[in-house]
Amino acid sequence: MIQIPTPLTAHARIEIPLICGAMYPCSNPELVAAVSEAGGIGIIQPISLTYVHGHEYRAGLKLIRSLTTKPVGFNALIEASSKAYHERMIRWVDVALEEGVRFFVTSLGNPKWVVEKAHAVGGVVYHDVTELKWARKGLDGGVDGLIAVNRRAGGHAGPSGAEQLMEELGGLGVPLVCAGGIGTPEEFAAALRMGYAGVQMGTRFIATTECKTSDAYKQAIVDAKAEDIVLSERITGVPVAVINTPYIQRMGLKAGRFAKWMLRGRRTKKWMRSLYALKSLWQLKRSSLDTTASRDYWQAGKSVDGIHSIEPAGDIVRRFAAACQP
Ligand SMILES: Cc1cc2nc3c(=O)[nH]c(=O)nc-3n(C[C@H](O)[C@H](O)[C@H](O)COP(=O)(O)O)c2cc1C
Repeated sequence: MIQIPTPLTAHARIEIPLICGAMYPCSNPELVAAVSEAGGIGIIQPISLTYVHGHEYRAGLKLIRSLTTKPVGFNALIEASSKAYHERMIRWVDVALEEGVRFFVTSLGNPKWVVEKAHAVGGVVYHDVTELKWARKGLDGGVDGLIAVNRRAGGHAGPSGAEQLMEELGGLGVPLVCAGGIGTPEEFAAALRMGYAGVQMGTRFIATTECKTSDAYKQAIVDAKAEDIVLSERITGVPVAVINTPYIQRMGLKAGRFAKWMLRGRRTKKWMRSLYALKSLWQLKRSSLDTTASRDYWQAGKSVDGIHSIEPAGDIVRRFAAACQP
């Protein structure tokens, strides 16, 4: 097997510095395991694992373990929006640690409590950030690495490009991973040459045989061009990158007037966010599994430009790794 040693591969104990990022609702055990088995690392998204793909949480982790003995990671979205959610996330992290997970990707919020738990057993934590102020917060919390989410990313994209993020965050003393817009082996190699310790991809891994989303969604990724990706505020209240389908065009991209008004108030903002969170979990689950493609709310980033076929995830990892060989 090809080995591309970087600070990320040393931290995560993997061979190829390629992460299959957490994806609600697209992360399923088979996809996570396939990326890890090929030498990269798949990240478990706990709400996707349980709510979308129907696994009891610990049984889902054990299923992944039965498919690969190599390291897998866990995504802790740590926004403390409700006490019940925070307590559930603590339990999920504890069980992940019990089941042998040692690589954590945190997003939003203060990652300190995850860092303390992971470090106590020799694990590491990388924190998703879109700009310097969040990177500083993550470092204050003791994270071991940063994932720089750029403006071409699927999901919640950041405001800056990959080169600008390398300039801003490259000198902070921890490994930096590039997330966003990488869909081809050449782009993967270019990111490593730019100084990134690895790449986190989402969109590319949706168009795989292991991903359990509908064929219509996968084909839409294969067919889309970068200019078909638009930012919609209608899913979560903040911009999310989606394919500009007729359904999205009918819905419009902006949050409704009522939602905007609610988001402005200090107390109502919290309720609106919770409402959005619940609504989006349900909507995204329905769209990703729906085979009729009538309400297609399909998240994808600008990397769609380089994605031309649905392939096994392991083949993608190996093809990308081969592009970095002399
Ligand atoms: C469908 C989809 C769902 C995502 N869900 C999550 C998530 O639940 N948690 C998270 O931290 N990142 C999430 N992301 C971001 C990815 O983990 C990754 O950073 C991003 O997809 C990289 O950009 P790319 O799609 O251009 O490769 C999601 C991305 C996509 C495309």
